[in-house]
Amino acid sequence: MSLKTIEWKDNSVIMIDQTKLPNSLEFVTYTDYNQIADAIKTLVVRGAPAIGVSGAFGLALAVLQCDTKDKDELITYLENAKKILFQTRPTAVNLTWALEKIMRVAKNASTVDEIRKSVIDAAKLMANEDIQTNKSMGKNGSELFNDNDTIMTHCNAGALATVAYGTALGVIRAAKESGKNIKVIATETRPVQQGSRLTAFELKHDGIDVSLIPDTAVGYTMANGLVDGVIVGADRILQTGHVFNKIGTYQVATMAKQHNIPFYVAAPLSTFDLKSNPEDVIIEQRKASEVTGIGDKKTAPDGIDVINPAFDMTPPELISGIITENGIVKPPYNESIKKLFEAKK
Ligand code: MRU
Repeated sequence: MSLKTIEWKDNSVIMIDQTKLPNSLEFVTYTDYNQIADAIKTLVVRGAPAIGVSGAFGLALAVLQCDTKDKDELITYLENAKKILFQTRPTAVNLTWALEKIMRVAKNASTVDEIRKSVIDAAKLMANEDIQTNKSMGKNGSELFNDNDTIMTHCNAGALATVAYGTALGVIRAAKESGKNIKVIATETRPVQQGSRLTAFELKHDGIDVSLIPDTAVGYTMANGLVDGVIVGADRILQTGHVFNKIGTYQVATMAKQHNIPFYVAAPLSTFDLKSNPEDVIIEQRKASEVTGIGDKKTAPDGIDVINPAFDMTPPELISGIITENGIVKPPYNESIKKLFEAKK
């Protein structure tokens, strides 16, 4: 079993503290939804599906924190908790998806006790379903890779970005489980280094062969024939096939196109946003200190201007296929994504 990133236990939420990785594997326990909001903001938990489930568990804590006997009061309390959880990080659509799903469950219940039970049950179910979804996605995507392939990945779209198993790394896990010998090249993923701190840690932990490269070696490794394919996760995918993911994904995809290397995205249906246009999506801007230093060590002069977007957009023409739990969609995405969701109804 891969690492379990987030769990509901004894009316509290237990998470791996990802800010401590790779130096120590520590768990934190939360009983207040405000702590969950802080954990999302400070990257204790990160990755689109894990943020979504964290939001759902945040609302599950909120139903326990509010000791009213009045149904409307409880719903108002939940609406406020939802707002605080929603305001944490703007780009991953899974958070909105999860919060709205749990609020619907709350509003459909008829008594206060029923709201409490159904919200907690729905959040727990969402966490379990996340693992099943990743396994289906993994199975669907594993066919895209051959025995002895070396696959590049960017950021961390693994067990640590979900409840367990992972999206992009789930596909790699499934390919390995099907008997293929797969090697991984992980980019470091500056500025917060999800690649070196999390992906390299997670793959090493699970005995999957991984080589770490600086982000600047993407072109070198591709030009020298060291990469057979690329797979990444996503924070938001539009109807047009535009993919929002960790900053640098666009560069990796462009370089893959230049070298004729297939570039795949693995994401659950909860990562699709069929309503927004590219210009509507808010790209989170993070603090300058992530760029002017590495960890606590300063690597830039004081008073320097910094641009630090957390995500970028990869256009559909650079994407060979999008792997979901319901199958793989290929270009033209406007049509294939529409069909994917029509088939789901
Ligand atoms: O800033 P992060 O670490 O939350 O960014 C994570 C990513 O960009 C992941 O690739 C994405 O959320 C998909 S995770 C399955």
